[in-house]
Amino acid sequence: MEAAGGRGLKDHVRANWRNVVLVCRKCSKKIDGGFGPDGDERLARALRRHLSLKKGRKAAAGIVEVGCLGVCPKGAVTVVDGADSREWVLVRPGADLDELAGTLHLGENARA
Ligand code: FES
Repeated sequence: MEAAGGRGLKDHVRANWRNVVLVCRKCSKKIDGGFGPDGDERLARALRRHLSLKKGRKAAAGIVEVGCLGVCPKGAVTVVDGADSREWVLVRPGADLDELAGTLHLGENARA
């Protein structure tokens, strides 16, 4: 028998993410954009761009589109804040992205 922390549990990959936010891809598709300067961008992309976040693990924070989270709100996007995973956020199209970034713990500190 292997001791805890044995082989297979020791591999790590470093990431620069201060926080991670999960954005429902299906909600995003259903409302067909709704964010960004022209209101035609999906939330994850608009938020990433608004905060000048790169993609991948070298970014200062992770904004990840995921499959349906089972809430399926009408006219909003379900978002899970990794730093506050008990309070999911339903984001309506055109939401203020500065305010949202603050709510999701992606504020100034998360800028790349
Ligand atoms: S479609 Fe987004 S939570 Fe189900």
